[in-house]
Amino acid sequence: MGLAVHKLEDPFSIQDDEECQQRILAAKEELGERLVILGHHYQREEVFQHADFSGDSLKLSRQAANSQAEYIVFCGVHFMAEVADILSRPDQISVIPDMNAGCSMADMADLPKVEKAWQELSTILNPDETITPVTYINSAADLKGFCGRHGGIVCTSTNARHVLEWSFSQREKVLFFPDQHLGRNTGATMGIPLDQMVVWDYDLPMGGLTAEEIHNAKIILWKGFCSVHQMFRPEQIDRFKEMHPETKIISHPESSYEVCQKSDYVGSTEYIIKTIAEAEPNTRWLVGTELNLVNRLHEQFKGEGKSVHFMSPTVCMCSTMFRIDPPHLLWTLENLLEGNVVNQIKVDESVAEQARLALERMLEV
Ligand code: 13P
Ligand code: SF4
Repeated sequence: MGLAVHKLEDPFSIQDDEECQQRILAAKEELGERLVILGHHYQREEVFQHADFSGDSLKLSRQAANSQAEYIVFCGVHFMAEVADILSRPDQISVIPDMNAGCSMADMADLPKVEKAWQELSTILNPDETITPVTYINSAADLKGFCGRHGGIVCTSTNARHVLEWSFSQREKVLFFPDQHLGRNTGATMGIPLDQMVVWDYDLPMGGLTAEEIHNAKIILWKGFCSVHQMFRPEQIDRFKEMHPETKIISHPESSYEVCQKSDYVGSTEYIIKTIAEAEPNTRWLVGTELNLVNRLHEQFKGEGKSVHFMSPTVCMCSTMFRIDPPHLLWTLENLLEGNVVNQIKVDESVAEQARLALERMLEV
């Protein structure tokens, strides 16, 4: 196609959107099978359209593990590119177009805080015999490593219930981090009473809990949350249903317990897409998940008479997912064309080995 003659020097030096799109296509074509682009459902449309495979965190992890490509360019957030590095072959290279694309929820738990919690818990029970540590995939690699070496496991929003069932078959309690909502919503579907799911406040000694509360708990929930999904409120559902009582409510399990209780369906991004795709024509949907995905669903299904609405009256996009834009993708690809790897995500092998244990346990479950 002949457009990518001069490599983009930095992601901010291209102004023309159309030229940028054309050069991405040209670079992709030239890299051919050496490249695979993975795109999470929350990516903006101008980036999402270049993904060879799209999916939720579980589907994309499997895709990364099975990919043959030399370069895995992850249009998503940092922990996703880490998982791609951990699960791919040592000669494959995982890249994220913008290093600033993190996940604010993942940042709410870190290894020193989790080690401290484990140590504090060990003053009243033996955690390695009584607690399975479970980390949501939205977490740093060293936390997956922590779970690997303490007999624990990783979960995603798709398999959280199966993972918790497995965890309780190993030990009587679970320490679930970093998302309290996914932990609570999943525990509730398993019939665990709310008072047996206590919140560990990592800023307080002993998580702010008494020994009795810890002894009585089935799940100890880390006090983390997603800033996007916490915007959805049960009153928004009530208000919408007053206007359109026939509406079906569907939410991501990172939303609060109250929102999930008022929802007809709760599940991962992939589940949300599938449920609306398989629904009857002329149905109305109120969706509690990230705006880019909801907008895509609206466009995709309006032809079938399906009416898809965003739950919150205010705009709530995942601002870190949004950092991946066409100029950063182009900059990444044109550098790869020159054999210059930018923004590689490389997890130290000693951490990766333990994290892989926890991820492989998940993939087996
Ligand atoms: P999914 O695995 O459901 O795509 O969720 C990822 C995520 O970060 C949701 O906020
Ligand atoms: Fe993290 Fe929330 Fe963004 Fe998902 S939507 S990547 S949990 S900040």
